Amino acid sequence: MRQLPPEFFRTPYAFYERLRAEGPVHQIELRTGVRAWLIVDYDAAREALRNPTIRKDPHTDAGAGARRESAGNSGVGAVNARLSHHVLNMDPPQHARLRKLVTPAFAPARIEALTPRITAITDELLDGLAKADGPVDLMAEFAFPLPITVICEMLGVPIADRAQFKEWSAVVSDITLADPVQMRSATDAIVAYFEDLLARRRAEGPGADLLYDLLTAGDADDRLTDDEIISMAFLILIAGHETTVNLIGNTMLTLLADPSKYAELRQDLDGVPALVEEMLRFEGPVNMATLRYTTVPTVIGETEVPAGELVLVALGSANHDEKHFAAPEIFDTERNPNGHIAFGHGIHFCLGAGLARLEARIAISRLLDRYPDLRLAVGADDISWRESVLFRGVQDLPVEVTKAPALR
Ligand code: HEM
Repeated sequence: MRQLPPEFFRTPYAFYERLRAEGPVHQIELRTGVRAWLIVDYDAAREALRNPTIRKDPHTDAGAGARRESAGNSGVGAVNARLSHHVLNMDPPQHARLRKLVTPAFAPARIEALTPRITAITDELLDGLAKADGPVDLMAEFAFPLPITVICEMLGVPIADRAQFKEWSAVVSDITLADPVQMRSATDAIVAYFEDLLARRRAEGPGADLLYDLLTAGDADDRLTDDEIISMAFLILIAGHETTVNLIGNTMLTLLADPSKYAELRQDLDGVPALVEEMLRFEGPVNMATLRYTTVPTVIGETEVPAGELVLVALGSANHDEKHFAAPEIFDTERNPNGHIAFGHGIHFCLGAGLARLEARIAISRLLDRYPDLRLAVGADDISWRESVLFRGVQDLPVEVTKAPALR
């Protein structure tokens, strides 16, 4: 039984490389005592994510064993059940029904139409950076508020409630590590909040927000239930809080750690989309996909995993698999095709991928354009990484935004 080594949160890639050298599937015990089968190879990861017998819904008989195991002394079992009726907890055929009802809200044309608003929010935040007198935390002042503001506006969550959500999100975002008491209280508060918001939203009538879309999705025969709406809003809000933030943060750290890269990209802003794509592979914000479990004995790679066992797919490892990517430790924006699985694979492929890409492209392009002299205020090795199994991102990113004084 493996355990995550102490350096895992700073950099998981050497550990993953050692595991891949030994085989595609390994038993692992997390700090909370949760035991799972960790999949580290690209092919095996895709196979597992596509396998219809490896499932997500914990509220089934087949999921009972896995549910007990994952609950352990972590926060998994303490989540308010009313928040669990979302796509990422569902299997076919329920998954397809719900996904179909929420997909129109994320249609490419609707996401594209957000460009002017995302650009305006970005520029407003970037104006704020210039006012700083000394180092600024790029995470707190830019990478974090941008996707949150976008998602709150999309959902119709009042911006004044953002701070509250940040707090809740910090508790619930890594359920494999969270404390059960805190988890229960945060998820109860989220349910109460959304119930209230939904009632107000119903009373207000038509609007252009996602909550209204969810309220009116489908037809008279098939509408989302209140618990499904609350759960979907919750999932979207967490996704908006914990992922794009880190894509922006990880990209800026990679660029600023090598100032020549930053300067080079400034000359070629058309290269930003390819940069974002390679960043998703190289340092993607979702390190491991969410928990799944086997319902029958299942061969993954060449390992037989018994029924009722938890499965964790290490997307960060699959995206560094040397059997699939030449020189995976090299950040190469020319990789073509790239083929990363940073947004997952199969039926649970990220619903927000288009939005995340658009936000990251705008954020990075505007930052490069407006702040040519941006540089790290501390050494790249002094930056702390979050201690999360699922998400990969830094705690803070102190930067200097003003020109360095000229040397005499
Ligand atoms: C760079 C940013 C993002 C990354 C890397 C990312 C990654 C992922 C991954 C890996 C999954 C699959 C998880 C699994 O199979 O266990 C997923 C699912 C999902 N993501 Fe994202 N995500 C990002 C941003 C977003 C945003 C901005 C939203 C919404 C506003 C979003 C909404 C969702 C939803 C709803 C699902 C569940 C889809 C389903 O189960 O059918 N994501 N995401």
